[in-house]
Amino acid sequence: MGGAAASVIDAEGLSYTYDDGTVALRDITLSVRKGERVAVVGPNGAGKSTLLHILAGLRPAGRGTLRLFGEQLSRRNERDLRARLGVLFQDPDDQVFMPRVWDDVAFGPVNLGLDARTVRRRVRRALEAAGLAGYDDRVPHHLSYGERKRVAFAGVLAMEPEVLLLDEPTANLDPRNRRDLLKMVNALNKDGTTVVTATHDMGAIAELADRVYVLDGTIVRQGTVREIFMDPQLLEARNLEIPEITKLFHLLGAFGYDPGELPLSVDQAIEQLERTMEEGGGHVHLHLHRHGHALPGGPDGKPAAGKDHGHEHGA
Ligand SMILES: Nc1ncnc2c1ncn2[C@@H]1O[C@H](COP(=O)(O)OP(=O)(O)OP(=O)(O)O)[C@@H](O)[C@H]1O
Ligand SMILES: [Mg+2]
Repeated sequence: MGGAAASVIDAEGLSYTYDDGTVALRDITLSVRKGERVAVVGPNGAGKSTLLHILAGLRPAGRGTLRLFGEQLSRRNERDLRARLGVLFQDPDDQVFMPRVWDDVAFGPVNLGLDARTVRRRVRRALEAAGLAGYDDRVPHHLSYGERKRVAFAGVLAMEPEVLLLDEPTANLDPRNRRDLLKMVNALNKDGTTVVTATHDMGAIAELADRVYVLDGTIVRQGTVREIFMDPQLLEARNLEIPEITKLFHLLGAFGYDPGELPLSVDQAIEQLERTMEEGGGHVHLHLHRHGHALPGGPDGKPAAGKDHGHEHGA
């Protein structure tokens, strides 16, 4: 994950127009280095899925250049380069097609020409990682949407790609499966897998990304997750929402709580409250602030209600 990590994706000036004339992407320049966790966020129709397909080399861009692992994509190398990337499609029905779960997950590894034992080991592990142990003989077509999404995910995992490109990976997952997926992807990242996630689930990117591109036809902003979450105007303009927990701590600022850094997830919030309590001798101090913007106060600075610092809560 160091600063001089190898380049994985370099896109420059990419544009894409669908056959019916819909301009999906304009002038996209972005880069991803080995071991990074990058998110592409944006509203419906922003072009996230289109971009992911192009970055994965599945669809040629209309204009611009794409380099994967430092190599310009061409007829000659595209097969090899593509094999190093694993794409989870937004819609599992575009990806899951075999009549049996096991065979579907085995399809990729078999095509790689791996021996039967390796295929079995990979499929078994991928199914377990996706929470699908015992699903071997099930018919994908009969599974729920969330289950099919996990079959698709298992299929990607079984390929053991260097880079994961995940399109709305948390969509339709129940809380436990969502948590397991985030944990699994982060564990792979710790072992060196690069992760690119397209989503409008801002709660997920807090846990799944360090760096964010905000996409809306073109890239309108890039920054750390924190920088993006701290810009409510940008999020409002692009129809995105910060997690409730971040909003809550933002609000606590009006009550004199200094979060230092706003927590982006419940885990971070708990960590921070614990730290604040240690510093405060076991307490978190809140009060009605003179200038608290959420409270109507006079121009002379007189508190609107009660006395100054009238409200203290120990926690
Ligand atoms: N096959 C297609 N033909 C024509 N237009 C398309 C096609 N697929 C997508 N589009 C259009 O391209 C734009 C980008 O679509 P895309 O699916 O990439 O957006 P997205 O950001 O992934 O949206 P969502 O959040 O709904 O998944 C949209 O305006 C969409 O209507
Ligand atoms: Mg999409």
